[in-house]
Amino acid sequence: MNHPVRKILVTSALPYANGSIHMGHMVEYIQTDIWVRFQKMRGHQCIYVCADDAHGTPIMLRAQNEGITPEELVTRIGKEHRTDFAAFDIGFDNYHSTHSDENRELAETIYGRLKENGHIVSRIIEQAYDPEKEMFLPDRFVRGTCPKCGTDDQYGDNCEACGATYDPTDLINPVSAVSGATPIRKKSEHLFFKLADFQDMLTQWTRAGHLQPEVSNKLDEWLNEELREWDISRDAPYFGFEIPDAPDKYFYVWLDAPMGYFASFKNLCERRSQEGRDDINFDDFLAKDSDAELYHFIGKDIISFHALFWPAVLAGANLRTPTAIYAHGFLTVNGQKMSKSRGTFINARHYLDHLDPEYLRYYFAAKLTSRIDDIDLNFEDFMARVNSDLVGKVVNIASRCAGFISKKCDGQLSAQCGEPELYQRFVDAGETIATLYEDREFSHAMREIMALADLANQYIDEQKPWVLAKDEATTAQAQAIYSTGVNLFRILITYLKPVLPVMAEKAEAFLNIAALNWYSCAEPLTNHVIKKFKPLMTRVEQDKIDAVLADAQKTLAAKQPAKPVNKKEVGNMDPIAETIQYDDFAKIDLRIARIAKAEHVEGADKLLQLTLDLGDETRNVFAGIKSAYAPEDLEGKLTVMVANLAPRKMRFGISEGMVLAAGPGGKDLWILEPGEGAQPGMRVK
Ligand code: 2FM
Ligand code: ZN
Repeated sequence: MNHPVRKILVTSALPYANGSIHMGHMVEYIQTDIWVRFQKMRGHQCIYVCADDAHGTPIMLRAQNEGITPEELVTRIGKEHRTDFAAFDIGFDNYHSTHSDENRELAETIYGRLKENGHIVSRIIEQAYDPEKEMFLPDRFVRGTCPKCGTDDQYGDNCEACGATYDPTDLINPVSAVSGATPIRKKSEHLFFKLADFQDMLTQWTRAGHLQPEVSNKLDEWLNEELREWDISRDAPYFGFEIPDAPDKYFYVWLDAPMGYFASFKNLCERRSQEGRDDINFDDFLAKDSDAELYHFIGKDIISFHALFWPAVLAGANLRTPTAIYAHGFLTVNGQKMSKSRGTFINARHYLDHLDPEYLRYYFAAKLTSRIDDIDLNFEDFMARVNSDLVGKVVNIASRCAGFISKKCDGQLSAQCGEPELYQRFVDAGETIATLYEDREFSHAMREIMALADLANQYIDEQKPWVLAKDEATTAQAQAIYSTGVNLFRILITYLKPVLPVMAEKAEAFLNIAALNWYSCAEPLTNHVIKKFKPLMTRVEQDKIDAVLADAQKTLAAKQPAKPVNKKEVGNMDPIAETIQYDDFAKIDLRIARIAKAEHVEGADKLLQLTLDLGDETRNVFAGIKSAYAPEDLEGKLTVMVANLAPRKMRFGISEGMVLAAGPGGKDLWILEPGEGAQPGMRVK
């Protein structure tokens, strides 16, 4: 069969070089690695690169606290990351660092092009400044009392207690988290990327099949308003790349981080070319008209960086944009957010010291879909699933067939497959399973594979070869049945190989065959000698799980340094919210509102301006429902609104709340209309 070879570059998000890899990270690396291994098995040229995200204030400060240089810190953490990833069999083709020559060159080139193309402006802004430490403070490094609800020790950009957002200078008794000094306000010139230059391009791009539908919908919240300029510079002291022609100014970590994907790829291309291998060409993959595919696997918290800023930066620098961004949800442990105090903040190392990495790879595969829902690591379920599926179903087929073949047939499989139809059925399932892998529907793929494993076991149960084996006259029949079992096992291992590369390698050794690819099993193994069977996987034991949790508990609940994101500049950094507690829900004041007036907004494609009557007051709200409603259809209707949403300044005026609607978007969008008895102003409970 001839299969066209695709050129594919794949990335996972670059972990910060100031903390350990934890189980939450592993969802993404395992998801990406499975996808990449699948593509490679299909014969495609698929290259998987990653790197440490080395820049930013938290890394600089952590190095200072440890009394080492940021370079030393980055080198040390980089080694730890590589070791953990390797232990989980994450098969990067290259792992590099954003603090590298390749990345500096890329950052300078791309920035130069953005400037040349008129997408950079400079402005003077005022920010919190630590007079003792003599440095500007990211919002997360200013703490104080919330001006709204009075809760102490809140971050400079938002209050975790009441959800208010504000400027660090609005905090009561603000202090610098770095030195404890009271911050002052200080002016400085910053460079901004004009994201609004790409408003039309992004509006189109985010709907052109590069994103999951729920992500596109969420991004409309940004795109319905004029996109704000993005501050891409930071003042010294900062650990990063100094901006050419702007002494003492550095590129913001989030500008050069995604470029680190390409830096790692470039480093790989150069190394290969030094080795005399010219099978990949860096420029070919990046060119605007490239025929190579580019995929970024990321967590849902960093969607805006990848689906807005990054494509805009690439387009502004005349480079290709990603083929797709694949976002996934967060990991919960036993149903709750990972928490140090509950002992469920599990580092990769805690796990690796006690449990087989392949258990987790399979468990995550069994849970992952193409959507961005959170996934839960429930240890009871984990143990039950791995033991029942992998040990009880898959490995069991080999172990129940191998003994007879080894002992009674000198390892020789029979000359013909005992059950050609069943064998063919397994082969035919390959394309369905391949489509599921391609679409990142791993959970569904695992179900299909386990259904096949059930069939194989059923077949052996029904044929009862152990009875036939007792009688000399029927040993050939027993051999044929056991041989079929071994052959079905070989197909199952092929389908599981992207998830379980180590088990697949052991199975290949047992089957005495070359490395399996997706198409190796078209014909059964006949007249072939297999090796003696050795256990391919042991059961998950409860005491090992307990040991992982005990280790996690022991690790000091040392505070993770804050992430270097600046919510204010880029708007809402967490476009898809995590699960919320009841208390959070209780904060939402839902009210019945009568749409007193509905009007078109000049210059707005999606918004209608609504005047909402709440009984004793009226509110002005801009709602993105123009695609579904004409103003005249709305007037007089009752709907449900969030009445205590902080007023938001939009391009067309201030919006004082939000109306609730349901549906996928476009024409299919319905405002919620309460039934009889509802009166404007009533609370919705
Ligand atoms: O959120 C994070 O952990 C970032 N270090 C991810 C960066 S991904 C890419 F853009 F570099
Ligand atoms: Zn508050």
